[in-house]
Amino acid sequence: MEKYMEAGATVVQSVRLDDEKDVLIILDQTLLPNEKKFLEIHKIEDLWEAIHSLRVRGAPAIGIAAGYGAYLGIKDCDAATYEELYEAFKKVKTYLGSSRPTAVNLFWALDRMEARLKREEGKAIEQIKTSLREEAEKIRIEDEKVCEAIGNYALSLLEPGWGILTHCNAGTIATAKYGTALAPIYLGHAKGYDFKVYADETRPLLQGARLTAWELKEAGVDVTLICDNMASIVMKEGRIQAVLVGCDRVAANGDVANKIGTSGVAIMAKHYQIPFYVCAPLSTIDMNCSDGEKIHIELRSDEEITSKWYEKPMAPAGVKAYNPCFDVTDHGLITAIITEKGIAYPPYHESLSTMFNK
Ligand code: MRU
Repeated sequence: MEKYMEAGATVVQSVRLDDEKDVLIILDQTLLPNEKKFLEIHKIEDLWEAIHSLRVRGAPAIGIAAGYGAYLGIKDCDAATYEELYEAFKKVKTYLGSSRPTAVNLFWALDRMEARLKREEGKAIEQIKTSLREEAEKIRIEDEKVCEAIGNYALSLLEPGWGILTHCNAGTIATAKYGTALAPIYLGHAKGYDFKVYADETRPLLQGARLTAWELKEAGVDVTLICDNMASIVMKEGRIQAVLVGCDRVAANGDVANKIGTSGVAIMAKHYQIPFYVCAPLSTIDMNCSDGEKIHIELRSDEEITSKWYEKPMAPAGVKAYNPCFDVTDHGLITAIITEKGIAYPPYHESLSTMFNK
């Protein structure tokens, strides 16, 4: 457990490499808020399962885990040449890349690891492995700085005492530290901003209830849990002055894939004239994806809706279910996209490109 920030928040680091054992340690987010259990990940098969089943989740945390996974996958391989090592890496990359399709950070991190591997060509095999370990560490360390910068930019748009609605969990445990959408809340909390945060429970896997409400409450932030279908009433009652969400992939035109239900929140925010902000590290912005239509939306199992979190099934046996895990919010509903390089406003195809050139 690590203490951070003046506000007295005590949080856990959700993904890290154990230096001595040289294994990946992840917080099993499926057990929260009831149990804080860490898993030692030795094999990439276990990491694949951990990503697929959302033990490690949230776009930046998935990227960090994939970076370490790329190292774990080759560190014990007995390649005698660079070519053999590269072959082994490619298999690991393809395999880990099949764990979840929507969060682009997974692919971004694996591409970054591959780029580092290519830069190491010509060096001794052991040296190359050490370099990959170093690159994975860099991805995690940089993410802390990125989230802090996003937090500061986002905080500049908010005022003390505001009510803020958030959906899913884009917090500390979804990143290396601070979170993306929750970063301004933590930074503001440390400065006495006294935000009133409303956390959508986020059906069906309850990331808002289990994770966001948990980590904000641990930090001493004023958080109120609501069911997803209560967002409209809290907006209508004037309790919400801004919506802040994270994202899994931003297309070049500013369309944003995030947890299922996000687009509905954005539509309601527009109706009630409440600013809708998306917090997005550059690692989540996919300039190769022209628009939201091209984003692959993950479909998950029916039982997540019908029975997973219940003592007894809450739907008739055998009923058909449809479980898209993300949806795409149209760029026209988004007030601004907040990155670590600054705040992007419409038209997004121009403002997002500018962020990459800063
Ligand atoms: O399915 P999940 O829990 O991985 O979905 C996560 C989200 O939708 C988050 O909002 C997003 O990854 C941003 S995390 C900083």
